[in-house]
This record gives sequence, structure tokens and C-alpha cells, in this order.
Amino acid sequence: MLKVRAIRSLIKQSTAASPGRLLTLLTALFVAAPLLAREAILEGDRAVPTEARNGMVVTSHYLATDEALKVLEQGGNAVDAAVTAAFALAVTQPRSGNIGGGGFMLISFEQRDEVVAIDYREKAPAAASRDMFLGTDGNVDEALSRYSRKSAGVPGTVAGLALALERYGTISLAKALEPAIRLAQEGFRVPPRFSDGIENAADRMRQHESSRKVFFKPDGSSYEPGDLFVQKDLAATLRRIAEQGSRGFYEGRTADLIVEEMQRGGGLITLEDLKSYRPVVRRPVHGSYRGYDIYSMSPPSSGGAHIVQILNILEGFPVASTGHNSAATIHLMAEAMKRAYADRSKYLGDSDFVQVPIKGLTSKAYAEKLRGSINQERASASATLLPDNPVPYESNETTHFSVMDRFGNAVSNTYTINFSYGSHILVDGAGFLLNNEMDDFSAKPGVANAYGLIGGDANSIEPNKRMLSSMSPTIVKRAGKNFLITGSPGGSRIITTTLQVLMNVIDHRLNIQAAVNAPRVHHQWLPDEIRIEEGISPDTVRLLEQMGHTVTRRPAMGASQSIMVDADGTLYGGADPRLSTSSARGF
Ligand code: GLY
Repeated sequence: MLKVRAIRSLIKQSTAASPGRLLTLLTALFVAAPLLAREAILEGDRAVPTEARNGMVVTSHYLATDEALKVLEQGGNAVDAAVTAAFALAVTQPRSGNIGGGGFMLISFEQRDEVVAIDYREKAPAAASRDMFLGTDGNVDEALSRYSRKSAGVPGTVAGLALALERYGTISLAKALEPAIRLAQEGFRVPPRFSDGIENAADRMRQHESSRKVFFKPDGSSYEPGDLFVQKDLAATLRRIAEQGSRGFYEGRTADLIVEEMQRGGGLITLEDLKSYRPVVRRPVHGSYRGYDIYSMSPPSSGGAHIVQILNILEGFPVASTGHNSAATIHLMAEAMKRAYADRSKYLGDSDFVQVPIKGLTSKAYAEKLRGSINQERASASATLLPDNPVPYESNETTHFSVMDRFGNAVSNTYTINFSYGSHILVDGAGFLLNNEMDDFSAKPGVANAYGLIGGDANSIEPNKRMLSSMSPTIVKRAGKNFLITGSPGGSRIITTTLQVLMNVIDHRLNIQAAVNAPRVHHQWLPDEIRIEEGISPDTVRLLEQMGHTVTRRPAMGASQSIMVDADGTLYGGADPRLSTSSARGF
């Protein structure tokens, strides 16, 4: 069972990176106190999930949770609530909630036994080219790939949410936008996590007049916890979407404002790029693990392929008996993870442009081959592990939320503008931040991106191609019924965070809150190290080191907002305590 001490320590890690945080943390706890009491994240020494019968929403911001829950209470379905939450997050959590980015939504319709994936990932503009981020010295210009107008891909969020609602929802886009428009127009009281985030990003934000005008007060000072934060330009942009649908974003005034912003300095997105953006409904990756059906995101995300690949490898080991977060289990997980991330570096990219061997990567036979190369006593050096051959071929920020309704529908959604605050450049007059998702391409094959992830030709930049993602919205079914709705932010750690929530429930029988709270580990092949959160014991670390692993302690990894459904239909929500604004509510 997870110790309260470890959870407190995780909260501390996620808020301990800058001076003055002690005061902020105390204020955070003060602001969050009613929330904690209402949602009973912790009770004594136990992690207690939120419980409900009719519907559940778990997001990274309590205002978004509240608005989405109202939709469910009024008879809306999970897609209605999810789209409402996504737009509310775009207002209340500008570090990752967005209309200027993109993402993926998995929807499970239990009654008709169907799971669909909506891909609303950003695309490279038509004028993008393979070497666009290389300097004259041939090296990647990181300022250009991460913090410039060129770093922005064509946003997909508005088109993706509109498509989800039109095909699978029951309310209008205007209705789903109502709470977001109100929160932007009338403002909301900022929690400490908001002011903290802006403080961390202040240096970059202040470099852009458009961002400075919105995220700081007229006298240039910062918003403090409890201040009212109003976003009139964003409200106007959202109203245009409410009135005109997707066209209110991809054409007309908003599109003009985006292109004008591009023209202020080297941006590539054109009116034609915006007008031609289309989300795609895809088949999710499907695998199985110890009798459970796993559905997760297909390319252009690597998430689903590698979650299934790692689970397939681990299925051959008795991890329930080697134990939760024991050295023996972590060793096996790290060995499986590094083999999967090695394959990711070579094979994964946008499947509309390159052949991705999903069938091979997720096959039990390939997993058996990889499992055979694992020594159960010794770490294998990443340098000796090259991407294998999964034949045959066939044709720090993001946010995740999970929703279940009373009709048997589940939504697992992860979306992002890449880093916290994306490029940090706000579209002047439109009130939203531009993503810097172009950095998720492999700017130079073999050279790591911001997450230390190595990519290959499969993920090189091409016009209109989607950049590879790790986002892994995941739905697990048991005997045909929705069982677990999960996912996480965290860049390269998204895959392993989601994997561990799943294993914590299936292998280690933790309740969903304990599964979300539990300290996490991560290995991504390169660098050759196991990253661990606070809460993994020093004894365990020593044993891992004796096996030949390098182990490094890192700040909190991921923030999973998850739901588990019991056999009798009771819903349990687990909001991640690593974020002070996380909340799970049901009815
Ligand atoms: N931008 C992080 C990801 O999509 O994986």
C-alpha cells in the first residue's frame, strides 16, 4: 500500500523547482483543502478513489471536471462531457489545455463493442522541409525547433473536438463551448499551480508582447493565487467557433490572426494549411494482457504500439509474485521498456507517410523473441541493444482526462501544445498559445529531441506529415466491458506512466487511486538509466545497481487521470496528486 509520506513527497517534487514555492504550496493546500475533503483522495494511510454509479470525470483541473460533470448530470454522454472539458481546460490551464495544439481521443462504445480513435494531431505546414531546423553548421537549432513560430504545427484540436461531437455526441458545439466562453469572458480565480507555472515560464513569455499582454497584468506584474484571470480575446475566438463551427477557427478572422502571427517572424502556417486541416478517425492499436483487452493510440502516436509491446514481453514473467516496485520487477520492466524504445527510434512515424510495422511490434511471437534476450539477473547495456526486426510489415507538457457515462461510453483523451505553454508565443488578438510540436519530429535523424528521444527517417520532417507522439490514451476492457480508462502527460514518459497504472491495477491489484499515486519508474533505452520517482526504496535502488543498472531520481513523472469500473458497474476515479488541481468527481 502506498504511504501518505510518499504521496506528499511526490506533491513536493512537482512543486519544488523554484524559490518561494513553500508559500505557494501552503496556499495550494489551502485552496485545495475543500477539494481534497470532497474527493477524499487520502484517508488515513489509504489511497481512496472517488466512487460513483452514473458517471465520472477525472481531469487535471477542477473547473473542467465540474463543467464536464454537469453535462453528464444533465443527460449528456461521455463525448459531450469530454469536449466540454477539453474547451474548459483550454481556458483554465493554458500550459497544456489548448485550441492551438492537437491530440488523440479514444472512445469506447461498450454497447456496440466498438473502440474508435480520433487523431487530431498537428501537421507540418506544406512549406516544411526535412532540414528546416538545421543551422549552417549542420546541427539542430533548438531555439528554432522549440521556441519560434516555425516550431508550430497546424493545430488540430478544434477540428478534432468538433468531429468527436458531430459524430458521437448529443449536444451542439455551441453548448459544449458555453462554460469555456464564460470562464474566459468572466474570468476565474487562479490557483497557485497557475501562477507558479507562469512564473516558471516568465522569461520566455515576456519576450513576446502578445504573451506578455495576456499572461501578466497591465503593469507587468504577475497574477497571484486568488486573482481573477480574464481572457477577452480567447472568449471572442471561442465564440467564433461556437457560431461558425470549425470554420470559425480554420477560416475567417481567427485564421487571419494566426497567419498574421506567422508573418511576424518566420512562421510557415498559411491560410491553405489551416483550411485543409482534417482530423482522422483511426483504428486503435489492440492487444491483450493476461486476459484483458488493451486499446490504445495508433500512429502517429507510438503509445499504443509500445504499451502493447512492453506488456507482451512482461506477460511471460510472473510480475505479480515478484511484487510491486521490487527490484526484480523494476529490472524486468526496464529491460522490456528499453527494447521497445529502441524499436521506437527506428520504426515509428506517421503511418500515412511511412510503413509502421504495428502488427510485428505488437505480436506475441516478437515479444517472446525479445523476452528471450532478457537476462533476469543482469541489465543489458542499451549500447548493445539495437532496434530489432519486428517483421512483418503491414500496409514536461500535455494533459490527459478520462470520462465515463451511464450509457456504457468511455472517453480517454490526451492533448497538448508540447512543452508547458508550447512555443510560449501567443497569437496576438486570438488569445491562445501556439504549439511547438514540430520539435517532436526527428529534426536530424539520430539526434535526440527535447525528451531525449532518438528518432529515425520514419519520423523525419515532410510537408503535411504528422509528427510522432508518445500520447497514449488507453482503454482496457474485461469480458467486453469497459474496465480501465487511463493515460497521462509526460513526453517520453507517457508510455511508461500509462503502462504502470495498468500493471498496478491488473498485476498488483491496487485500487485506481493507489495505482495512480504509486511511485513510477521509466527507461527509454537512451539515456541508459532507470529514472525513478521519490518513494522507491534505497534498498531497491541498491539491488538494481548491483544488477548493473544506472538509477537516477527525477521529479514527478506524468499525471494520470484515470477511471476503473468494477464488475458491478461502480465507477472509481483516481486523480493524480502530483498536480494540485487534479480532480475526480462522479454522481
Ligand atoms: N508532445 C509530446 C508528445 O506528443 O509525445
